[in-house]
Amino acid sequence: MNARLVVLASGSGSNLQAILDACAEGRLQADVVFVVVNRRSALAATRAEAAGVPAVYRPLGPYRNAFPADARSAREAYDAALATEVAEVKPDLVVQAGWMHLFTAAFLDRFPGKVINLHPAMPGAFPGAHAIDDAWVAHERAGLDHTGVMVHLVPDEGIDDGPVLAAQRIEIGPDDSRESLEAKLHEAEHELLVRAIGEYLRR
Ligand code: GAR
Repeated sequence: MNARLVVLASGSGSNLQAILDACAEGRLQADVVFVVVNRRSALAATRAEAAGVPAVYRPLGPYRNAFPADARSAREAYDAALATEVAEVKPDLVVQAGWMHLFTAAFLDRFPGKVINLHPAMPGAFPGAHAIDDAWVAHERAGLDHTGVMVHLVPDEGIDDGPVLAAQRIEIGPDDSRESLEAKLHEAEHELLVRAIGEYLRR
């Protein structure tokens, strides 16, 4: 029986597309059963709909409005509500594929060992939302000659941190530009993410 994947995305969804393609082509014994985006402009929702996968837009904003003086409570309330919605589709794995929101235990404790995250840097390097820019600045200023991509489990609120499932080093060469580096990283993460999901599901 195919595994049930939930994908969470905030951006263009190229990694969601890589997962959808791998499922459609039988490279993953899995189906994406539900997609959540937290930005209205996220192209990931359009990609999900094109593949016939239910996609919903769930922003944090209304929870911030409900808890104007308490950002922590807003996050926890949002996470609890989203966890309930995600649990309804009975996922085997929840994939953060460009998901720009840091979950609290209110979400993570509902899916222990079942949430993974993709990040465009090597383990321990450049956590956060601007890893590619950060690596490029380190290259220009200090001659950094590599960065990478990784997939890790998300056990807690550590930022882009947790037990590593897969990682790949990417060289930054003299002919690279910021754009060519980003293109190399995206190409690598599309492959790495599908491979990491496959290995996770076979465990
Ligand atoms: C990817 O590069 C992913 O690694 C990164 O967001 C991008 C989403 O691209 N995630 C992070 O930076 C997490 N901290 P996509 O929307 O085209 O899949």
